[in-house]
Amino acid sequence: MIELIGIAKYYGKTKILSDISLSIAPGEFVCITGPSGAGKSTLLHLLTGAEEATKGTIEIDGVDLRIVPPRALQIFRQKLGIVFQDYKLLKNRTVAENIAFPLEVCDVPDADIDIAVRQVLTIIDMTKHAHTLPNVLSGGEKARTAIGRAIAHDPLIILADEPTGNVDPQQSALIMNLFKKINESGATVIIATHDAGLVDALQTRVIELRDGSITRDSKGGYAKENFIKNVTANLSSNTKKVKITAISS
Ligand SMILES: Nc1ncnc2c1ncn2[C@@H]1O[C@H](COP(=O)(O)OP(=O)(O)O)[C@@H](O)[C@H]1O
Ligand SMILES: [Mg+2]
Repeated sequence: MIELIGIAKYYGKTKILSDISLSIAPGEFVCITGPSGAGKSTLLHLLTGAEEATKGTIEIDGVDLRIVPPRALQIFRQKLGIVFQDYKLLKNRTVAENIAFPLEVCDVPDADIDIAVRQVLTIIDMTKHAHTLPNVLSGGEKARTAIGRAIAHDPLIILADEPTGNVDPQQSALIMNLFKKINESGATVIIATHDAGLVDALQTRVIELRDGSITRDSKGGYAKENFIKNVTANLSSNTKKVKITAISS
């Protein structure tokens, strides 16, 4: 469970986020949307513990991020899988070595790392690029490698910042399906994105930020209008079902 209560974030005197309260249950799929500069990345940084909130409380899996000592914060971070906006792939390591990296940091035995890396390569469909260095990968392949590295240690929560920012629509669909699969396997997935196509296709819970405040928290597409359209479509399909049942009974 992720719980934010009365969060505010200031850089100096500039207010970036204010009055953010929300909870995210284990296994949820959440898209954080909103225009550029709305505070999406800042909110993710607060959730990963990379930045500290100016006000309020953040509890993740029962850990209060404000009062957790540095060593415990490190252990807590192992529950997270982070896909950074610029991917932050290690340039001198192959795809397989990038995926292995978080496991090496956690002192996982080599034999187990090999098994995990092979599984992840299959999930992200990058087996044939296992020994390729990141600089020759396409945008989509880089994104998939970054996702692979984020899921290698089987984290409880995956956080991704604009994961489809540098990919074409076809790759974007692949990446979307990958996140769906990861979520179906039990992980909580939180994606910050201003990719309307992605959000419309996913139809998950959408938390919209504008000027650092939550302006919407509901299931549906990117725009509120799409949400209303979807609800109307669902309602009319439910109505049809009711009618059909009534006729056949
Ligand atoms: N380290 C920082 N120092 C000062 N201002 C920052 C810093 N990081 C982000 N901001 C500002 O905070 C606002 C929100 O940024 P960000 O969270 O990156 O938005 P988004 O991800 O929605 O585009 C922007 O106005 C940005 O310029
Ligand atoms: Mg951002």
